[in-house]
Amino acid sequence: MSVESKVRAVTTYRLTEMKQRGEKIAMLTSYDYSMAKIVDAAGIDVILVGDSAANVMAGYETTVPITLDMMIYHARSVVRAVERALVVVDLPFGTYQGNSKVALDSAVRIMKETEADAVKMEGGEEIIESVQRILSAGIPVMGHLGLTPQSIHKFGTYAVRAKEEAEAAKLVRDAHLLEEAGCFACVLEKIPAALAARVTSELAMPTIGIGAGGACDGQVLVVHDMLGINKGFSPRFLRRYADLHTVMTDAVGRYIADVKEGDFPNEKEQY
Ligand code: KIV
Repeated sequence: MSVESKVRAVTTYRLTEMKQRGEKIAMLTSYDYSMAKIVDAAGIDVILVGDSAANVMAGYETTVPITLDMMIYHARSVVRAVERALVVVDLPFGTYQGNSKVALDSAVRIMKETEADAVKMEGGEEIIESVQRILSAGIPVMGHLGLTPQSIHKFGTYAVRAKEEAEAAKLVRDAHLLEEAGCFACVLEKIPAALAARVTSELAMPTIGIGAGGACDGQVLVVHDMLGINKGFSPRFLRRYADLHTVMTDAVGRYIADVKEGDFPNEKEQY
């Protein structure tokens, strides 16, 4: 395989072009090979190996416990499946806040050990030194502002962020800081739609919204939520495109019944 043929079709540069053309960016999470293969083949632009893996894959209540090694395991599995989409990997909590050298080491591990395309980091001014250091090593960075779940113990709630003027003004400043540093895009999570619209119009880098309204340049959802695998999570911003929980429960129930009744396997299903 030539070097050129290994470059996936969606690049960070292509996302900028999409914003310039007014073409919306579709992003979903994936954490494993089989799901990433389906999501990529369906034509998604960006796959996020989110630290939401802590919740939907590992069953933790928050994203705080997931480790760099766990993220690398998920990201490797996803990268092996993906041919077209840009693959972005979350730097997990504790691997980039506070010390930009540690941040760079974490990002380099992700890039070298997973062959993903970029990393994502939560926060603005507080982490800008780490963002700059990672970018200076040639690693593309996606920002993440608004509700930043890694700070849940500071916020104490997953409610809408930046409703007050002071927090909204800080978010706008942070978005500009991230753009000036060289981030290629920024997730805006659970903020008022009008604020997301303002940030989106002021920035040249694309914004990707989750619970941030329709004016963002793109949208992201957690794939288990939008497929209805995960039924216990129903925020207003979530649109469910399938009810896989019911489909899977029904399939497993029928399998159990067939086994118990001696109906599976039948003669055609044996050697
Ligand atoms: O980890 C994640 O899934 C995310 C998205 C919700 C943006 O950060």
